[in-house]
Amino acid sequence: MAKGRYIVIEGQDGTGKSTQVELLAAYLRDQGQDVVTLREPGGGLPATEIMRDLLKNKDYNLDPVTITLIFTANRRELWVKTIEPALKRGKTVISDRNWWSTLAYEHYGFGVPAEVVRSIHEQSLPQRYLEPDIGFIFSLDDAERQRRLRSRNDDHIKDTFESQQSSFQTRVNNGYLEIARAHNINLIDASGMIDEIQWKIRKCLS
Ligand code: TYD
Repeated sequence: MAKGRYIVIEGQDGTGKSTQVELLAAYLRDQGQDVVTLREPGGGLPATEIMRDLLKNKDYNLDPVTITLIFTANRRELWVKTIEPALKRGKTVISDRNWWSTLAYEHYGFGVPAEVVRSIHEQSLPQRYLEPDIGFIFSLDDAERQRRLRSRNDDHIKDTFESQQSSFQTRVNNGYLEIARAHNINLIDASGMIDEIQWKIRKCLS
């Protein structure tokens, strides 16, 4: 099944992923492509949105391997119900995050062994999901990222991941750099202007 194109944009909160997903989707639609966008966790299905709420609610204080399993269940469901059918119909799928997030947050952040993360995913998802057609990791230094997040809104309640200490966020940030290198993913400096970043993404796609 080589139809369609599966594009993933990755990076920490505050790096501007969702803006770039929307801009890219609009651009590709203008070019006549049929585009589906989604985000992980969640992805718009009733059951996957429940999983998203479960994962983000820090009051449950879930164990990191449990978190890993729920993220994997969430993406298995999205693969079967949304991503694979769209690719089979020749559509372009643009996802805000994929399993690289679990390597970054659950492995590098929480310390779940990489082998555990990898094997759970390899048993649940096909290569086409694990190795998207093209991926981007947005990277931004922690101070700038925090500044952006603060300017978003003050009364935002922090979720399971946002409420972790700054050392966790640093491990995730460094983890993403490692993942980009190990998986040969395009690393994008997210400190640039919105248009400039969009232009870099389009250039990689052409
Ligand atoms: P979300 O509000 O979607 O944040 P963002 O806009 O940055 O994507 O929250 C998702 C959170 O879940 C985010 O903090 C990262 C975390 N996460 C993981 O820990 N592992 C994963 O596999 C995924 C997909 C997300």
